[in-house]
Amino acid sequence: MLRIGTLRVDPPLVLAPMAGITDHLYRLMLRRIGGVGLVTMEFISSEAITRGNARQLAKMFFSEEERPLSIQIYGSDPERMAAAAEIVAELAPDACDVNMGCPANKVLKGCAGAALMGDPPLARRIIREVRRRLTIPLTVKFRLGLDDSRKNFLDLGKICEDEGAEAVALHARTARQMYTGRAGRSEITQLKNHLAIPVIGNGDVETPHDVAAMLADTGCDGVMIGRATMKNPWIFRQAADLLAGRAPREATDTERRDLMLWHFSRIEETARDPREALHKLRTMTGWYTHGLAGGRALRVRISDLATPAAFREAVVDFFEANGRLAATA
Ligand SMILES: Cc1cc2nc3c(=O)[nH]c(=O)nc-3n(C[C@H](O)[C@H](O)[C@H](O)COP(=O)(O)O)c2cc1C
Repeated sequence: MLRIGTLRVDPPLVLAPMAGITDHLYRLMLRRIGGVGLVTMEFISSEAITRGNARQLAKMFFSEEERPLSIQIYGSDPERMAAAAEIVAELAPDACDVNMGCPANKVLKGCAGAALMGDPPLARRIIREVRRRLTIPLTVKFRLGLDDSRKNFLDLGKICEDEGAEAVALHARTARQMYTGRAGRSEITQLKNHLAIPVIGNGDVETPHDVAAMLADTGCDGVMIGRATMKNPWIFRQAADLLAGRAPREATDTERRDLMLWHFSRIEETARDPREALHKLRTMTGWYTHGLAGGRALRVRISDLATPAAFREAVVDFFEANGRLAATA
């Protein structure tokens, strides 16, 4: 079990924040499958929160079923971050995370995200101010450093600990690397040995066995998974089974179909317009049929379907026509 201050995260498995992906429905879907200990929202800018940007504020909606849940904020101005933290606190999530790892240019130009790794005194002030406004646990997520010659994750980790953060998450790549190369493991071990607060390891975990290996090899307290959850939303359940000594099992085709149809219908209900719904449905179908025999044919077929209803039909057909489903279909 992972303890983040007063928060118990059990199993010690965390959904990584992913902009454009880890929205309300996505988090709910993973919760329903099970095995995830803590889910994280998409990052939200402290500017947007404090200026009352309605679209961004709407992103902070969550339901009780999603708990425990963490809200991630980013920004470069300590006062504004603190003001955003106060608004976050009113929503009463289970934790608040500060993003110091985002390598996207848009974020770096505002000197937020990973840019803060290049300015440790500013990073310290942000953590201090945010900490002062929150009573819930505070975590910080960062990378190894800006580039190979400036790997200061150990120093930043210590700053987080000194300023009262309850845990840190390390995506073991530099900002310069973006998503290239392989995320390190030895640096996670180093950070774990350097700090007294829990360390959550992150980067390139693709299978339940990778989860177990990361815990065993690095001694980290928890594992955070991002991209692999899109190809395999069952990964948390499988990893939780593995950690509990049970054999992890693949999702059945019935489970895949039912999950897709559930997610589809919720997207149709909640999307702001049909085009947005169609875009999300296409993306999701790509994820959920990844690696399935005939999945490519389905992806081609849906590429020019114009309504969500036609989508649903294509998915039902796909599973039935392939004789994939048992008698329950
Ligand atoms: C589409 C996408 C969006 C992301 N958005 C965020 C974000 O909002 N905040 C953040 O801290 N990291 C973000 N990340 C980084 C992930 O949280 C994670 O650190 C990274 O993907 C490595 O983990 P993985 O190999 O398990 O995917 C994002 C990654 C992806 C692929």
